[in-house]
Amino acid sequence: MHVAMIGTGYVGLVSGACFADFGHQVTCIDKDASKIERLRAGGIPIFEPGLEALVAQNVRAGRLSFDTEAAASVKAADAVFIAVGTPSRRGDGHADLSYVYAAAEEIADLLDGFTVIVTKSTVPVGTGDEIERRIRARRPDADFAVVSNPEFLREGAAIEDFKRPDRVVVGIEDERARPVMSELYRPLYLNETPIVFTGRRTSELIKYAANAFLAMKITFINEMADLCEAVGADVQQVAKGIGLDKRIGNKFLNAGPGYGGSCFPKDTLALVRTATDAGSPVRLIETTVAVNDARKKAMATKVSAVSGDLKGKTVGVLGLTFKPNTDDMRDAPSLDIIPALQAQGARVQAFDPEGTHEAQALLKDVEFRADPYAVAQGADALVIITEWDQFRALDLDRVKSLMAQPVLVDLRNIYSPEDVRSRGFRYSSIGRA
Ligand SMILES: NC(=O)c1ccc[n+]([C@@H]2O[C@H](COP(=O)([O-])OP(=O)(O)OC[C@H]3O[C@@H](n4cnc5c(N)ncnc54)[C@H](O)[C@@H]3O)[C@@H](O)[C@H]2O)c1
Repeated sequence: MHVAMIGTGYVGLVSGACFADFGHQVTCIDKDASKIERLRAGGIPIFEPGLEALVAQNVRAGRLSFDTEAAASVKAADAVFIAVGTPSRRGDGHADLSYVYAAAEEIADLLDGFTVIVTKSTVPVGTGDEIERRIRARRPDADFAVVSNPEFLREGAAIEDFKRPDRVVVGIEDERARPVMSELYRPLYLNETPIVFTGRRTSELIKYAANAFLAMKITFINEMADLCEAVGADVQQVAKGIGLDKRIGNKFLNAGPGYGGSCFPKDTLALVRTATDAGSPVRLIETTVAVNDARKKAMATKVSAVSGDLKGKTVGVLGLTFKPNTDDMRDAPSLDIIPALQAQGARVQAFDPEGTHEAQALLKDVEFRADPYAVAQGADALVIITEWDQFRALDLDRVKSLMAQPVLVDLRNIYSPEDVRSRGFRYSSIGRA
């Protein structure tokens, strides 16, 4: 099949490379000429494990190419994917659909023969209807079907998630789209991946319901962690004790500093707005959003609670991205925690294995250092915000010898309290005595 992927970001590039690897002929398109130039030169604009090799392999095989212009590939395409961003609209939290509609209108002008237009971007219920209406208004003669096919991949494990997903969701209103979508995902049929065909609106809502549920699950265990601290219980064991119940499951029960990232914050907020507008408010999600926002900001007080007044002190921060194995800084907890530390008078020095470049543009007055030990140097407290593997086995004796005061605040519970304390640290973590 011929595929045109409009938008070559985290989702578009991974999806495009994986479809090419399935054997399809894929062109990834982006307005950002520097991105396309870099890809054409054999580079990768984002950090995602395994992606560079997958892209190179499929470019070499002649199945994957990159372009700033959509015309040729959209005309030749059986399926055109829209994988552009849908950030929070400034001011009201609705999903900003301007990139989606701009892409749809651009596609409309280029349609040639029956084409399936697939929305991979996360879009509110009814967006597929509106895309169809806009294309029809612009090109009454065009022959097309608009499909919803939300993406569930996780950054950091994106290729594995795309190639071995728990399920694929496809929302169609025109039966002609079914064989096209089935053919695109044929390799997954062979793996017996469930392909859930549904109506378009239902498919759009499934994506938001999934993200909102996961955000709520994280927020639930975070509140349990606070309660554990208040009553002298251990949240890791609470998580294990409830997670073994198959109805609950053990995933997404790691207490931490609050969820962040490119999806949960904006998608929970957008769902709240959609539901309010529809007259059917989702109070659990409203509360999830409020609890999580407050939590991220409150994490700075965990530092002063162990190290005392932060005025004039130096705080070292390990990990800035919203999770490990990505360079994505969108809505990362570090963006709330670091300014809150600075507001208490702390000087911040930080290190992230892949996110420094992105972080530099977003964080003010932070000194970026070259490795974890350089961050520990002279620090009055060391805070682990993101659980990169390389932070899990630090030489704690060396860390202690470098620090001005041996204070470790572990917001991801990656160390054992007994072990760290036995080495002479004052140690604080999440939901553990
Ligand atoms: N990042 C994730 O982990 C993830 C997971 C699942 C779903 N999603 C959803 O997928 C969508 C894309 O997310 P992302 O993280 O890949 O975003 P991104 O910002 O990384 O990429 C979007 C790309 O689209 C390009 N673009 C915008 N308008 C364009 C146009 N008219 N023509 C060509 N290119 C255009 C931008 O230049 C950018 O490179 C969002 O709706 C997001 O919610 C993201």
